[in-house]
Amino acid sequence: MCGIFGIVTDKEQPLGPILIEAGRWLSYRGYDTVGCATLKNDGSIDLRKDAGKIDQVSERLRFGEMSGSRGILQLRWATFGSPSQVNAQPHLDSDGDMVGAHNGNVVNNLELRQQFITEGMTVRSTNDGETCVHAVERYVDRGASLLDAIRNAYHDLEGDYAFVIGRSGEQELYAIKKGSGLVVGIGEGFTCASSDLPSILPLTRRVVRVQDGQIVVLRSDGITLHRVEDGLPVVPRVETITETMESAKKGGFPHFMLKEIHEQPGVAGELLHLLEGSPDVDRMIERIASARLLYLVGCGTSYHACMLGAIYLARLAGRPAFPILAPQFSAQYGPAVSPEDVGIFVSQSGETKDVINAIHVAQDRGMGVLGLVNVIGSALTQVSEVYLPLVCGYEISVPATKTFLNQVVAFLYLALRMGKHSTKSLVETLPRLIQHTLEITAPQVQALEELLADHDDLYCLGYGLTYPIALEGALKLKEITYAHCEGMLSTEFKHGPLSAVDEGYPVLFVAGPQDVPLIVSGINEVTCRGGRAIVVGPEDSRLRINAHHLITLPAVDGETSALLSVLPLQLLSYHLSLARGYDPDFPRNLSKTLTVD
Ligand code: M6R
Repeated sequence: MCGIFGIVTDKEQPLGPILIEAGRWLSYRGYDTVGCATLKNDGSIDLRKDAGKIDQVSERLRFGEMSGSRGILQLRWATFGSPSQVNAQPHLDSDGDMVGAHNGNVVNNLELRQQFITEGMTVRSTNDGETCVHAVERYVDRGASLLDAIRNAYHDLEGDYAFVIGRSGEQELYAIKKGSGLVVGIGEGFTCASSDLPSILPLTRRVVRVQDGQIVVLRSDGITLHRVEDGLPVVPRVETITETMESAKKGGFPHFMLKEIHEQPGVAGELLHLLEGSPDVDRMIERIASARLLYLVGCGTSYHACMLGAIYLARLAGRPAFPILAPQFSAQYGPAVSPEDVGIFVSQSGETKDVINAIHVAQDRGMGVLGLVNVIGSALTQVSEVYLPLVCGYEISVPATKTFLNQVVAFLYLALRMGKHSTKSLVETLPRLIQHTLEITAPQVQALEELLADHDDLYCLGYGLTYPIALEGALKLKEITYAHCEGMLSTEFKHGPLSAVDEGYPVLFVAGPQDVPLIVSGINEVTCRGGRAIVVGPEDSRLRINAHHLITLPAVDGETSALLSVLPLQLLSYHLSLARGYDPDFPRNLSKTLTVD
């Protein structure tokens, strides 16, 4: 996830060390290029940037020597344009007298770039951060003040982003927020703005949290806030931050896992915006549609997304697909794979050795390789003919949460598009539904904490669309509570495991709206033997009457309900991990990226 930082000071001074330090604080978000610009009092702009990590790039390009009265730093996590020097941010306008950088995604980037080229502007990269700068330049060239130019550009730039921009010969920087985070710091003789709090706290604890649709003008002696719609000033609400740096990095949450769970409405919205404007979606659909056989390949949580993806593709697009665990791909399908087949390889890290091994088998047999991946620049992005980025930013906690959700969202979106269904309602409603589900299920889950915390053995059952979710819920519980939790198709339970049930034995069920009668049978097989049935599902009198506990989800269609049902299971795992005295972010014996066989 990109990060921006801008600072305005009361005199020309060495700004390089301040910008490098801010970059180090932002680096936990994940990035692949880094750049700094300083604006000097003589009107010149010093811009240095390249691909690589902040310590190496800043040493090679001597960021430490950069000086000025205003400075901008950007860490870029590539989505539009490869992670290269030319695509690194900040970017200049055509004449080189404005400089700016953004974080987030401008989803109509391609369209706008084309317009800027036609209008005669000098467009140097394919990156959407440059598009933000030209979007402002367009109105400055027509005679608008910088504030008004930014206000107009805001309406042209679609997507979720924040950006900071400055012009030579002036004393201010301007920053704007639409969907992405933006925090302002106010200190003695300087003000600054950043994507998030940790990079500001070493400088000052007086901050203003900018809201969507607001522009902030940064001056060395203070800030003014303006509404985008009419430019009128807004009174800033200045807060004094007391939290520690560590908790600021966690966004105020006690653990990265909880922070990442709560980032899900935002990352799902960002992904859907990106997919709506992405030509890679069409390329991917074309490849899938013309393939003889389609394999969906991943490990662990990513494999569960493949399973749900296969159901979405079959139900919504009539396209059968084979979900397969990556290390089993060669043994099960290797000899039968042909060059007319295509595989979608799904991985948060893009580096999992089991997945890379499966790709080698696929490539040896001439099969097409597509990717769904979070880490841009990873091995999977390099070998894929086409890949879709999951745009989750850095997922620090070992248990995958937001990346699973966006893998599933990407599959759902692809299936809808392939099946020629409208994506409008998904794009418009899903982020709010995710938010709402987190809000309504959090207290319901916490009420179960005491009941389940001491159990070392349980089952999690689902059927149809919720079967992969049951497997994912069970994996999450195992991973961070160290209890044994087996995920299973609910109808298989009576074929053996039912014998484990005795007085008080807990069984979790995940029910989709279309499968309530079947789940009710499963519940009764458990409860009549003394077991305790805990259900995640829609508000339904049949579930309410038959189960001991019902965690209710919003009333939505089966495909969306399956996706939402993972949220309370993530929360439940998190709370049970804490109740059992473990650190959910870093479970024993596990690593975030498994680059071994
Ligand atoms: O990076 P990947 O998605 O390829 O990782 C695959 C699994 O190792 C991963 O999903 C693992 O199961 C998670 N830690 C579970 O939360």
